Amino acid sequence: MSDLNPITQEAADAAVTAALAAFAAATSVAELKTARGEHAGDGSAIAALNAQMRAVPQDQKAATGKLMGQARGRIEGAYKGREAELAAAEAAAKLLAETVDVTAAPVRSRTGSRHPLTQLQDEISDVFIGMGWEIAEGPELEHEWFNFDALGFDPDHPARAMQDTFFVDPAERHLVMRTHTSPVQIRSLLGEGLTSTELPVYVVAPGRTYRTDELDATHTPVFSQVEGIAIDRGLTMAHLRGTLEHFARQMFGEEAKIRLRPNFFPFTEPSAEMDVWQPHAKGGARWVEWGGCGMVDPKVLAAAGIDAEEFQGFAFGMGIERTLQFRHDLSDMRDMVEGDIRFNRQFGGLV
Ligand code: PHE
Repeated sequence: MSDLNPITQEAADAAVTAALAAFAAATSVAELKTARGEHAGDGSAIAALNAQMRAVPQDQKAATGKLMGQARGRIEGAYKGREAELAAAEAAAKLLAETVDVTAAPVRSRTGSRHPLTQLQDEISDVFIGMGWEIAEGPELEHEWFNFDALGFDPDHPARAMQDTFFVDPAERHLVMRTHTSPVQIRSLLGEGLTSTELPVYVVAPGRTYRTDELDATHTPVFSQVEGIAIDRGLTMAHLRGTLEHFARQMFGEEAKIRLRPNFFPFTEPSAEMDVWQPHAKGGARWVEWGGCGMVDPKVLAAAGIDAEEFQGFAFGMGIERTLQFRHDLSDMRDMVEGDIRFNRQFGGLV
């Protein structure tokens, strides 16, 4: 018995082969660890063989110890190799699962955008600020006196009827929703809203205006205008025209031109209707009516306490909706008031 070696090469090889097969069959690091428990842990075939080392005859101990060491080394080596393989595969699978497509369209939360009319109003103001003008504002709920009387509209003057007015109850208070931005002319001349009441005055006043029009493709009861008034020594129609031409080019491009046609306003003399050339209109190039203008009537200057011998003035007023309409060849004004984000978004202006 004592010569008999209980640890044979075959037994060791069988234990190694079984362990290698189990490691190769493991498909995850977790499975591999279980297999290691079974084939290299306590109770495994190799551990059982190892326990027999005590019974190995003395003269064979060295050779059997080496045999066992090699067997354990092969099992350990196979384990390490398979573990590296499986860990790499798992890492690769994880990377794949967590792949981010950097070319995919991002999910953006929508921020609001400024209304195209507000953007245009700012752009108009910037054109005039660039020329050294000041910006003024007046109330939208206006006294009839500023809206009409001070501008030369007599109570029974037919011109008053030109502008279909929203009168505000009670009638004795004589309040109206302003029908144009021209009352800001009077307020500016009387020093309201100005940082300086000293002449000369170069003021531009964009803002909302109201008339009793039905909402349709070309009218809206709430619209906006921009008013300009300049009072200085030696101003003529040429200054008015030059200013308007510059403004038109800033709005509609270098090829823009304007044309003045005689007209009547009770607060300007002479007065003109101003047309702008729209070279790229859908139906072909054409002149379109853009606003009114004229030399400030000396009576208006005198009423504001300005010496009309020494100072002259020019004024103009045009619709901001029409400006937007001409710039972008928009066919329906209702798009501007309905607040559909798809319309507004086309003009950019995200905030
Ligand atoms: N306020 C006039 C209108 O709305 C336009 C205008 C402004 C005319 C300034 C002359 C001078 O029709």
